[in-house]
Amino acid sequence: MYEVIHNEELAPEVWRLVVRAPRVADARKPGQFVIVRASEACERIPLTIADADADEGTITLVVQAVGDSTREIASVPAGGAMRDVAGPLGRPTEIEQWGRVACVGGGVGTAVLFPLAKALAEAGNAVTTLIGGRSEPHVILRDELAAFCEDVRVTTEDGSLGRKGFVTAELEEMLADDATCPQAVYAVGPVPMMKAVVELTRPQAVKTIVSLNPIMVDGTGMCGGCRVTVGGEVKFACVDGPEFDGHAVDFDELSTRQRTYEEDYCRLDAQFRQTE
Ligand code: NAD
Ligand code: FES
Repeated sequence: MYEVIHNEELAPEVWRLVVRAPRVADARKPGQFVIVRASEACERIPLTIADADADEGTITLVVQAVGDSTREIASVPAGGAMRDVAGPLGRPTEIEQWGRVACVGGGVGTAVLFPLAKALAEAGNAVTTLIGGRSEPHVILRDELAAFCEDVRVTTEDGSLGRKGFVTAELEEMLADDATCPQAVYAVGPVPMMKAVVELTRPQAVKTIVSLNPIMVDGTGMCGGCRVTVGGEVKFACVDGPEFDGHAVDFDELSTRQRTYEEDYCRLDAQFRQTE
């Protein structure tokens, strides 16, 4: 069992949990994830390790409560425990010295972006982070990012905080000016956002790395659930990723595969509720 030390609501339906998992905290590198089960009956949920404290033996996880199992994880209070925390899994981020880097985070994807931005800044890159959300309460980790980024720019779709619009509007502006154009872009968020980012950077061939979150089951390359096509080759996000060259990713296939079980889930959920 893995004790939950802290649990707070970071944004509507988004929780930040600090969990005691000393061996994971010691071994993890930025970009890696764990697979969590709150209880025996819970689905296996892949969650990026948003932060870790090896001295305290803790890892920080951010979970968006969208289904039964993510709700179960989010509802474990401080003092409670998770049944399983398996990891660290996935390939760590390849941290390079690019010079100027733009890190683009959409909504809860900002939590995945956080450890990458931190590692890039620690490696001496000048990091500008662009974060976007539907409205002010959905913008997360702004102050935490400001602690090590040169600049943090915020967008909201309703204009309640920062610039009104999508986060990509800020990136477009950075790319258009030689004085701010980054040497590399890291993007994490909804698939349409990551697709929009790679289409913006493609004409200038700015290196763009995306973190993908396809459906995962085992997280060890055995089930094929997380299959993605990158550069015309089949890859498994859990062992070959989750980060890939954004210009080579087949985003249309990724969004189709992410919707694979949507209909079945809605039908089964409705049946289940009728029998309750
Ligand atoms: P959301 O739908 O509210 O979008 C957040 C922000 O992303 C928007 O405010 C906007 O700035 C940007 N965005 C969205 N669509 C865009 C588009 N078409 N073009 C340009 N920018 C766009 O996001 P949310 O509800 O906070 O997050 C949920 C989504 O994030 C889910 O789709 C989930 O799968 C994804 N997610 C991805 C990862 C990952 O590792 N890639 C991790 C966590 C969550
Ligand atoms: Fe099963 Fe990646 S989650 S192969």
